[in-house]
Amino acid sequence: MRTTVRDVLQKAGEEPITMLTAYDAVTATLVDEQGVDVILVGDSVGNTQHGHETTLPVTVDQMADHTAAVARGAEDALVVADMPFLSYGADESESIENAGRMLKESGAHAVKLESGEHTVDLTEQLSRLGIPVMAHLGLTPQSVNQQGYALQGTSEEAADRMVELARAHEDAGAFSLVLERVPASLASRITEAIEIPTIGIGAGPHCDGQVLVVDDAVGLSDWTPSFVEEFGDVREAMADAIEAYADAVESGEFPAAEHSEGVEELDDLY
Ligand code: KIV
Repeated sequence: MRTTVRDVLQKAGEEPITMLTAYDAVTATLVDEQGVDVILVGDSVGNTQHGHETTLPVTVDQMADHTAAVARGAEDALVVADMPFLSYGADESESIENAGRMLKESGAHAVKLESGEHTVDLTEQLSRLGIPVMAHLGLTPQSVNQQGYALQGTSEEAADRMVELARAHEDAGAFSLVLERVPASLASRITEAIEIPTIGIGAGPHCDGQVLVVDDAVGLSDWTPSFVEEFGDVREAMADAIEAYADAVESGEFPAAEHSEGVEELDDLY
């Protein structure tokens, strides 16, 4: 059965929410089949799939395509599309149109916005129009040129501001809040301060749920941040399989007779 925004809300404080990114239909099916609650089509696709250093070059068209692929692959998970850099927050009607595309055209069930003062009104507007919003505070990679990738909310003033922003986005109608790279004590404080679920990444164990980039979680990335646990070694498994394939072709072992159906019939024909 499809996980809904309401299901995610109801899990807050009751049962841990699981969320992973995916960018293609095959991965989405694998994630979905393991019962993960939410699939985020993250703009981290820029790093993981397109070879960019940052998420800034990712376009709305790219997000729409990746989201559509994920939505086709996922039967049960709630699919959340990340809104890429500058696709929201500047012009209101353009922001609404871009977010709307993710639901109308790509089959997402919600969108995620990297949040700040500038997204409170937009969160209210989108929620009112039937576009559920996942907010995102702490390290927001689209602000890399201002924040770098450092831990956020480390001063009392910054922590207080983040609590206020979390409340403001809850009041504006956000159904959940990603907290990225903040001290565990601050994530705990925010989780206590709001009713909607917090979903942490590098934010300690006190959030209502956890999210990781799927490439990091399965061990496909060539580098991972310190807060990541690699739960597999897909990079090595793929490298071994690719090496074995190339060796078999070079040695003439592949394709063997069992891979060559029809060769005898072709011999008869020619
Ligand atoms: O783009 C992304 O993958 C994200 C998660 C890391 C939360 O925003």
